[in-house]
Amino acid sequence: MTVNIYHDKDADISILEDSVICVIGYGNQGRSQALNMRDSGLNVIVGNMEDNYKKTAIKDGFETFSIEDAVKKSDISFILIPDEVMKEVFAENIKPNLKEGNTIVFASGYNVGFNLLDLPSNSDVLMIAPRMIGVGVRETFLTGEGFFSFIAVEQDYTGEAMSRLLALSKAIGTLKKGAIKMSFKDEAVLDLFNEQAFGPAFGRVLLTSINTLIDAGYPPEAVLIEMYMSGEMSYTYQKMAKIGLVKQTYFHSHTSQYGAMSRGIRYMKLPIRPIMENTLQEIESGEFTEEWEKRISKSKFKLIRFFATKQKINKLEKQVRKNLKMKSYDIFEEEPPTEEEIKVLEKISDEIKQFEELYE
Ligand code: NAI
Repeated sequence: MTVNIYHDKDADISILEDSVICVIGYGNQGRSQALNMRDSGLNVIVGNMEDNYKKTAIKDGFETFSIEDAVKKSDISFILIPDEVMKEVFAENIKPNLKEGNTIVFASGYNVGFNLLDLPSNSDVLMIAPRMIGVGVRETFLTGEGFFSFIAVEQDYTGEAMSRLLALSKAIGTLKKGAIKMSFKDEAVLDLFNEQAFGPAFGRVLLTSINTLIDAGYPPEAVLIEMYMSGEMSYTYQKMAKIGLVKQTYFHSHTSQYGAMSRGIRYMKLPIRPIMENTLQEIESGEFTEEWEKRISKSKFKLIRFFATKQKINKLEKQVRKNLKMKSYDIFEEEPPTEEEIKVLEKISDEIKQFEELYE
């Protein structure tokens, strides 16, 4: 399979000289992308509902409008609001205000890739999906390093979609590092797979390691520092990205390398691969999206999060952080489900029981 990767030399920002660009949503991605495009010389305005994000945009010196007015005033609209509210906001506030030949840009392939939006046929539809959190999009723009992105053209109404996509990508700063062209759906599948396969498998392995050591009598402070609180793991991850998955092992002692590689064989036969293949199939077929679109899934999500906040590790971590004089963040609080939600969830009570056990 060949892959197309684009860099600064492939794009010409001057084609956007006369365009007004609105950034809808001034959150993680919105703020960074708006600032980067303005610093690249583009004419950027912000459309946002009345909230603190809007105040930040005003403080940063942007002309701000309601979402409807910003879209009306613009040639290019970046839709940078949470994926789960996009369907409604797009239908009610954005689509009715688009004009023929406008360009719409998304930062994730999810809604378009799984056909959840009713797109106007007379617009260009583009994706620039950073492989970087919002704050990193700004920081790596300022350092000149840039960041990787996945980019896509879903609709090319004007015949200029590709040159616009590259110019916008350059202005945001991603072409400094490189942007890979793919489809909206492929971007969404890769993203969901990472979240649903690698993420939870890794989380389970981490928790099992912690519990094995604590149950064996090792002090929680030492265990949590060893397993993740030192930040050594994230440092190792950075080295993997910078110099290579296996090559980075040279930074570890010979004892560490021998131990890790010789014991690796014990995990070889775990049936992880079929679980992951099943997860991938569920995502690709749209089964996951269909499930997440259902109302019952929202109640289920709330209950699972509630269980997750009740896990032993939360209390333990809080105590450890206090003992180590580290700052505690009480951000992961979840209200218990309401009577009405519990009634809805009774239909899947066996499944719910499993989650209760999982998060014990
Ligand atoms: P966010 O959660 O930071 O978005 C906040 C913004 O959305 C605020 O301006 C708020 O006013 C607006 N907003 C929230 N609810 C709204 C509603 N009901 N109606 C209208 N506006 C509403 O969003 P974030 O994380 O920047 O994500 C934006 C897009 O970027 C998404 O498509 C996401 O998948 C994508 N993305 C996000 C990354 C990240 O690091 N957070 C990384 C790569 C892509």
